[in-house]
Amino acid sequence: MIYLDNAATSYPKPKSVYEKMLSCMKKYCANPGRGGHKMALDSGRAILKTRQIVADFFNIKNPMQIVFTKNATEAINIAIKGVLKEGDHVIITCMEHNSVIRPLKSMEKDKNIQLSIVKGNEFGEIDAEDIKKSLKENTKLIVSTLSSNVNGIIMPVKEMGTIAKEKGILFLVDASQGAGCIKIDVNKLNIDMMAFPGHKGLLGPQGTGALYVKEGIKITPMMTGGTGSSSESFMQPEIFPDILESGTLNTPGIVGLGCGIEFINSIGIENINKSKHRLVKIIYEELAELKNVKLYSKSDILKNSGSIAFNFDGVESTEVSYVLDKVYNVASRAGLHCSPLAHNTLKTINTGTVRLSVGCFNNFEEIKMTLKFLREISESINNV
Ligand code: ALA
Repeated sequence: MIYLDNAATSYPKPKSVYEKMLSCMKKYCANPGRGGHKMALDSGRAILKTRQIVADFFNIKNPMQIVFTKNATEAINIAIKGVLKEGDHVIITCMEHNSVIRPLKSMEKDKNIQLSIVKGNEFGEIDAEDIKKSLKENTKLIVSTLSSNVNGIIMPVKEMGTIAKEKGILFLVDASQGAGCIKIDVNKLNIDMMAFPGHKGLLGPQGTGALYVKEGIKITPMMTGGTGSSSESFMQPEIFPDILESGTLNTPGIVGLGCGIEFINSIGIENINKSKHRLVKIIYEELAELKNVKLYSKSDILKNSGSIAFNFDGVESTEVSYVLDKVYNVASRAGLHCSPLAHNTLKTINTGTVRLSVGCFNNFEEIKMTLKFLREISESINNV
């Protein structure tokens, strides 16, 4: 299969991810932080190693400020529900995923929080100045995706981070589509909190993700329970990461996540990015030549994290994706990609879009082959 659904989850994973996860399961997968025996200590050390790898990767000074979660959605929920109080105002962009909009909409209903959604252009690009215009006395938080899962558009997070810092407002970045594809330095971007999955650009397994919380931010845990620390107390410890990390962690998954990042480091994020963008550009340019195609993405390396969204005129996106899969053995995603806000912005709420999302293991031949199939689909539509 030609796998072009990397924005949903990356495939394949580096060989080391498979091997080290299996070795963890077979050799030392005891409960990390819950026992003093050798296997438990090895398990705890493996978690600590990944914490350090993640910290180095995003230039996070204190690895203990990284909280492992089961995915980015959980991390976003912990952040949003942990910092917002009754009556707070929040600003988000028009390209947010349901993992951002749903927790906020439920808090709008139950906690009386106020929500402003900053509009963008036809590609969902927003002007950071519009964030400024949306600020209110009670603005507590700005939330932005680093890049859209629907069309790959990259948001001006540096500018937003600067605004948030100047105004003393918290800035949460949803790096679901950016982590592992775009170089992120949480300090340079003035990011206060960042949620990311382990299984997309970071090349780890599903069931992994994390939340970074800058030191000093007051956050109420969404979930409490055993942490392996302060076990005499009925109350949740306040130290990081324990405050937000109750229950046994996904040790093999976290080991895999560490290996995924080590793999990226061994190739170089810039090199991965360069190769992905060469392929994105080819897809964009060849699709743009077809008469009956509407493109919803930009091809510019600075504006696209690796996804091309498009539709054939008058044909259901799900039908195109179905044919790509069943006839041509190409994996894509179609329909609405859990982001009605983004589809409203792109005016594709009634049609959805076909999305080809490139990963670091895709090559030129696969892309040329996929484009040949898409030309065949295009011709068959024209002949009807
Ligand atoms: N949010 C993921 C996607 O865009 C699952 O496919």
